[in-house]
Amino acid sequence: MKVLLTGADGQLGQAMQQSLVGHDLLATTRDSLDITDQSNVQTLVRQFEPDVLINTAAYTQVDAAESDIDGAYLVNETGPLYLSQATSETGAAIVHVSTDYVFDGKSKKGWLESDETRPLSVYGKSKLAGEQAVRNTNPRHFIVRTAWLYHYSGQNFLRTMYGLADRDEVRVVDDQRGSPTNADDLAEAISRLIKTDSYGTHHLVNSGSASWYELTREFYRQLGIKTPVIPVSTGEFPRPAPRPESSVLMTEQHTGIELPSWQQGLARLVEQIRLSGWSD
Ligand SMILES: NC(=O)c1ccc[n+]([C@@H]2O[C@H](COP(=O)([O-])OP(=O)(O)OC[C@H]3O[C@@H](n4cnc5c(N)ncnc54)[C@H](OP(=O)(O)O)[C@@H]3O)[C@@H](O)[C@H]2O)c1
Repeated sequence: MKVLLTGADGQLGQAMQQSLVGHDLLATTRDSLDITDQSNVQTLVRQFEPDVLINTAAYTQVDAAESDIDGAYLVNETGPLYLSQATSETGAAIVHVSTDYVFDGKSKKGWLESDETRPLSVYGKSKLAGEQAVRNTNPRHFIVRTAWLYHYSGQNFLRTMYGLADRDEVRVVDDQRGSPTNADDLAEAISRLIKTDSYGTHHLVNSGSASWYELTREFYRQLGIKTPVIPVSTGEFPRPAPRPESSVLMTEQHTGIELPSWQQGLARLVEQIRLSGWSD
């Protein structure tokens, strides 16, 4: 399969490159393909003629987006629109990755693909706008919503927690619940999804749910770190962007594509840290 990948330097981009070995892959970074450059997007898609384009590029700084609204919409809505238009023109399918932050998090029962979206933050609103742009322009779309993503290669919450482990104690928010997801597991699921014609919206996350506190406790437990982890409320760490209280993703799609539990996802990362270390 001919696959064009965007955002290849990001967490999911790097994981995708590994899981797509064996495909005819053109992996692009911001330097080689800025997704907000319509003419370059069109030219590359026409030249390469992919069977599928996987867009992992995004404006992912949730707090910065609150004061950089145009910047967030440019990368999260306009860029995906260009990619979707270009692929639609050549008949390629498109995978566009989105987020649990399209939901307001007010229901604790978990969110299905068909549930009503109501993003709280600029980031969430710009990602929802990107979903809609893709849905409206290329019928062969897979909108993949994921959540609380981490990867060995990335700067993420778990790397921060790893760096804080030499403190006397670590205080972590316990009143936000979500679906922590290892980008390696997600990349493998997307690699399976593109072989199907199950177009539409898909929630793909490691199964189960955790608070940031529970995630940190389990991470430290698996690593054998004894630093006490103290549960605190969101109010203790005020941030510019509001976060959904409960954004656990569930699925009503019957593709047979399931990710392991979040504890198993974590174990995969811990294994990589044991083998190669992890700088903070
Ligand atoms: N991280 C999470 O917790 C999380 C949760 C839910 C959903 N998601 C979604 O999952 C996807 C992957 O996230 P991630 O964690 O892998 O993100 P990431 O590590 O921040 O990677 C995003 C990549 O996109 C690149 N990029 C930014 N603007 C670009 C542009 N105009 N043209 C081309 N590339 C551009 C970035 O390059 P620079 O480094 O040069 O900016 C970066 O390499 C995104 O759609 C994100 O919204 C992430």
